[in-house]
Amino acid sequence: MVIQMKKTLITLLLIIPLVLFSSVTSNFSAANGISEATIHPSLTPNKLLNVAHRGASAYAPEHTIASYKLGEEMKGDYIEVDLQMTEDGVLVAMHDLTVNRTTNGSGYVKDFTLKELKQLDAGSWFNEQHPEYANPSYAGIKVPTLEEVIQTFGKGSRYYIETKSPNTYPGMEKELIRILNKYKLIGPNTPSSKVILQSFSPESLQIIHDLDNRIPLVQLISYRTKATITDEELHAYKEYAIGLGMSHHRIDQAYVQKVRDAGLLIHPYTVNEKADMAKLLDWGVTGMFTNHPDRLQEVLESRED
Ligand code: G3P
Ligand code: CA
Repeated sequence: MVIQMKKTLITLLLIIPLVLFSSVTSNFSAANGISEATIHPSLTPNKLLNVAHRGASAYAPEHTIASYKLGEEMKGDYIEVDLQMTEDGVLVAMHDLTVNRTTNGSGYVKDFTLKELKQLDAGSWFNEQHPEYANPSYAGIKVPTLEEVIQTFGKGSRYYIETKSPNTYPGMEKELIRILNKYKLIGPNTPSSKVILQSFSPESLQIIHDLDNRIPLVQLISYRTKATITDEELHAYKEYAIGLGMSHHRIDQAYVQKVRDAGLLIHPYTVNEKADMAKLLDWGVTGMFTNHPDRLQEVLESRED
């Protein structure tokens, strides 16, 4: 009798964690039809993602190879790349619609050919505005194309890519998928975590989802005031996305919990102070965008003890 009870207890102890784990992963994988077998461990809610926002952009000119390299050195899990498109249809890494803020040129990216864009200096502005981190090698640095970024960092790195202003660039999603396929960063034999695609535009994400429903997608949401989210909205996002991103200034613990309870990842942006990083981790976020990946790495390491 006692032996039988012991056996039952042991069986229960083995089964309960399996059931709980399966429930978490089922929620997570229900979005966009990714099977549990293809989910890379780093996209489970248990791995906290350190996303180098525009590279380690506190220390080097944003969206340059130098900034992305620093992001890798500072233990960023993902290189964040914002995409714009040139007049001749080339995807380039740049945050703004215009080149005004981050180069010595002026005008819309869409009005530059790649050859013209490559004439611009994308680094001197940083040296002038951030003398504490200025580096002579940044002067004259070029705007990289998406392909150049991938060629530089290869399949050993991971990319968190945003389709910016997709209404300005019809077809940018198709071109993005073409490039990711070309470099085998997506596809049947590639871990699904090599690339995460993000956008503020649900339409842009839907286009991507229709082109390839295995790619992990994150819906960015712009809140002007305190963030709230309904069950209906969460349900709609889960149809195509694995997670949500929003300004960390707009959210609270209840919001984070609600998103997590829905089985979605949550990656707030742009978190640069250690106190905010720690608070968000306490609230249960599953990663965050930061211009200071070194700081986030330190916070994460301090919590491992
Ligand atoms: O992509 C996350 C975050 O970068 C969104 O804001 O304006 O920096 O692209 P933004
Ligand atoms: Ca971005």
